[in-house]
Amino acid sequence: MTKANLTKRMLDAIVVRCGLRGGAVALAIATVMAAGTWAWISAANAAAAGASATSATSSTSSAPVTADPADTAQIARGAYLAKAADCAGCHTAAPRVPHPGAKPVATSPFAGGLGMGSPFGTIYTSNITPDPRYGIGRYTYDEFARAMRDGIAAGGKRLYPAMPFPSFAKINDDDMHALYAYFMHGVQPVAEPAPQTQLPFPFNQRWLLMFWDWAFAPKGVYNANDKRDAQWNRGAYLVQSLGHCGACHTPRGPAYEERGYNEKSSTYLTGGTNDHWFAPNLTGDPGSGLGRISAAEIAAFLKRGHGGGLVTFGSMVQVVEDSTQYLSDADLDAIAGYLKSLPARTPSGYFNARSEAARQTAQALKTGEVERPGAGIYASFCARCHQMDGGGVPNKYPRLAGNPAVLSASSASLVRLLVEGGGSPHTETGPEPRKMPPFAGKLTDTEMARVLTFVRNTWGNAAGPVTPNDVSSVRGALHK
Ligand code: HEC
Ligand code: HEC
Ligand code: HEC
Repeated sequence: MTKANLTKRMLDAIVVRCGLRGGAVALAIATVMAAGTWAWISAANAAAAGASATSATSSTSSAPVTADPADTAQIARGAYLAKAADCAGCHTAAPRVPHPGAKPVATSPFAGGLGMGSPFGTIYTSNITPDPRYGIGRYTYDEFARAMRDGIAAGGKRLYPAMPFPSFAKINDDDMHALYAYFMHGVQPVAEPAPQTQLPFPFNQRWLLMFWDWAFAPKGVYNANDKRDAQWNRGAYLVQSLGHCGACHTPRGPAYEERGYNEKSSTYLTGGTNDHWFAPNLTGDPGSGLGRISAAEIAAFLKRGHGGGLVTFGSMVQVVEDSTQYLSDADLDAIAGYLKSLPARTPSGYFNARSEAARQTAQALKTGEVERPGAGIYASFCARCHQMDGGGVPNKYPRLAGNPAVLSASSASLVRLLVEGGGSPHTETGPEPRKMPPFAGKLTDTEMARVLTFVRNTWGNAAGPVTPNDVSSVRGALHK
């Protein structure tokens, strides 16, 4: 019997004893409580849009640092690990606007209070500064490690899996100690309470999460694979534990658990949709995965937001701004190397720049003779940035020809980007940010479907069509 089935049985038994009407109800509650994660994760990133600026200040915090050089080195390492895990992205509230029209004021790093929208109400992140009253100043190391790995706060409160503890469970003891040292001695205490999360009954029954944790949350720190070298293991460790890349890039199961937490699972990192952003397949699939993108291009993408003609967009923008741009080149190479080692899985989409069809459209686009639906829209609204040949402009606009995100099985991200527009990330070493305009007021659902279908099937691209219905369902959900 699988753990999930066993959980269902146990719940049935408990529910009967408690006099509730059927185990399905309780399982549904536990499931639904967990179900919010998908929205929380991207909501966090969306709301944290301003947090990157604030998180940058965290490293310059004037908190007392112990004189012992060994401690100082450990605290500095903890600060680096906190960047790798993007603690600030979730645990810093969005900038405050004192009065309408005023310039937004940065909030205190790590003081919590970022509201993450969920279908059942808003979940606020905790104050994780070392303030003894409102933060985690009284946490012992063991309590800290338990919150991080098991999702149980000091005092026994179960945390919603919006806190990515199923991934953080893999953080090794050395790193956990460094993180603890940083949060206790390298972060400025903030004596302000984070707003209380008050979800309606039954979602406020945190103890129910016990069943979800038991069924789905993996246990145990990262176990090195001795058939692989140190660089591979470093990459696997960063991706699976601190980076929690699977929270967005792994599809979710019926209880919204991530379907796999390492490469042994055939669905791990094969692509997932969170809050209408599709995080693409990161395995070696040559169509919509990283098969045609080199390790060096992946590392550049994570450092500068630009790599191999791809430009970061959607919920990945905050990941690059808050987290991956700060990683060392060695760590980025390790991450890229690990991703490149993943065999092609869940293939989708196709690209062949040398196909006869690709040659013909290229020729026709040059002379403006393309009559396919969408071609005219592309020429009028898109080509000035992405170019008639779909090649983009290096360091400015992404190429659309052979772009894996364009060839993805799900077109959710493409629709959302077209509706809302976007902006490439601000990074220390990357090119100046550029905007993509929103098309919500300019193009109808049918026109958006046509131009996206065109983009997905031109220049050698081959991916499923986008229907007006696909567009309207995303627009409806976004209320745009
Ligand atoms: C994707 C968002 C996200 C990231 C990344 C994240 N957290 Fe959290 N964390 C949360 C949320 C949401 C809560 C509150 C959950 C709840 O109330 O059930 C939380 C709660 C906590 C708590 C419990 C505090 C308490 O007493 O309530 C600790 C400790 C914590 N986080 C530490 C960290 C550290 C350290 C990092 C980085 C290594 C981190 N978190 C990264 C979302 C996040
Ligand atoms: C908050 C959700 C989220 C998290 C966490 C996240 N990603 Fe992403 N990622 C996305 C989305 C959405 C895209 C698609 C947009 C784009 O290409 O920039 C993406 C795109 C990418 C791409 C480009 C893929 C392509 O085909 O264009 C790479 C590489 C990548 N992510 C690596 C990572 C790594 C490594 C991590 C962990 C350190 C990570 N991501 C964590 C959401 C996320
Ligand atoms: C003013 C220049 C501009 C115009 C016009 C424009 N885009 Fe973009 N496009 C961008 C920029 C900049 C990005 C990167 C966005 C980001 O990082 O959020 C982008 C990203 C994209 C992406 C994601 C690819 C990736 O790797 O980042 C797609 C798909 C896309 N555009 C399609 C279109 C379509 C279709 C049109 C016409 C309807 C269009 N764009 C018009 C500038 C433009």
